[in-house]
Amino acid sequence: MKVAVVGATGLVGQEMLRVLEEFNFPVSHFIPVASEKSVGKKILFRQKEYNVVSVQDAIEQKPDFALFSAGSQTSLKYAQSFAEKGTYVIDNSSAFRMDADKPLVIPEINGDVLKKEDKIIANPNCSTIQMLMVLNPLHQQFKIKKIIVSTYQAVTGTGAKAVEQLFSEREGKKPENPAYPYPIDLNLIPQIDVFVDNAFTKEEMKMHNETRKILNDYTINVNATCVRVPVIGGHSESVYVEFEKDFTEEKVKELLNNTSGVVVQDDIKNAVYPMPLFAHKKNEVFVGRIRKDFSNPKGLNLFIVADNLRKGAATNAVQIAQYILKKFF
Ligand code: A2P
Repeated sequence: MKVAVVGATGLVGQEMLRVLEEFNFPVSHFIPVASEKSVGKKILFRQKEYNVVSVQDAIEQKPDFALFSAGSQTSLKYAQSFAEKGTYVIDNSSAFRMDADKPLVIPEINGDVLKKEDKIIANPNCSTIQMLMVLNPLHQQFKIKKIIVSTYQAVTGTGAKAVEQLFSEREGKKPENPAYPYPIDLNLIPQIDVFVDNAFTKEEMKMHNETRKILNDYTINVNATCVRVPVIGGHSESVYVEFEKDFTEEKVKELLNNTSGVVVQDDIKNAVYPMPLFAHKKNEVFVGRIRKDFSNPKGLNLFIVADNLRKGAATNAVQIAQYILKKFF
């Protein structure tokens, strides 16, 4: 396969390279792409050096796959040109997620919506992916009515600039080009992305809208509060979910233990629960603190953690490519 990675110098792009390597994705031609200022830079993939090329150059090479993670503007500008050359575009930005004619895919959940002729496929928001990996098997059995979620999102979700901000603050320096309007070290910021008309943020509304689209159930409501925390990698989520049907904690644990891509870490006697430090570089989603609401027998609390650059971005994108490869080539 001829594979282009658009945004290959970025945090998610670099993770995509590692996941392509680890998953042994059959790459015969590798095309790293970044902005004009990076053209000619060297990128290492499978111990071989490649020169970064421009987007235009990559389009002309008609790759089989283009994995995009270079921001919505770049996706809006170039994804269609790749698609017209027959390339499958897997886009990590929010540019196409809510387009009715573009699939929004977590392969384990709704890979079956993919059709051969769909050339632009959207990768969901990182916080949505990890939440639904855990909630989908429970939804299939008990039917979700409402979700209340608070997120604790790592700075890598913002990009390289945010990581620099955190580390320069930690060294006592004033960051030259901060990613956030406030300090992030020894602080947290209850705003991710911009505010919209209903006083929620775009990130919070993404969790609501994308959940409905992926589960194909428009009766579900997601009430999210998204918070940026001074964690380097790994998003955490405190999730409260209300079901329509009765359930037991035992059945919940049994279902989650049998879900591929999900790891249960739940042994409170021994202080076992998921934490971002230990999810780093892992492709799985971790869940713990599983407990029924003591005031509502149909309510359940969970704590969910995943590496946001892995299952929240690069891993899911490469898994979509694997799915397409298996089904349509
Ligand atoms: P570059 O390194 O040349 O700026 P991050 O989110 O970690 O900051 O990474 C963003 C990625 O998107 C980088 O690889 C960046 O390349 C790339 N990028 C940004 N703007 C463009 C553009 N207009 N065309 C192609 N790649 C872009």
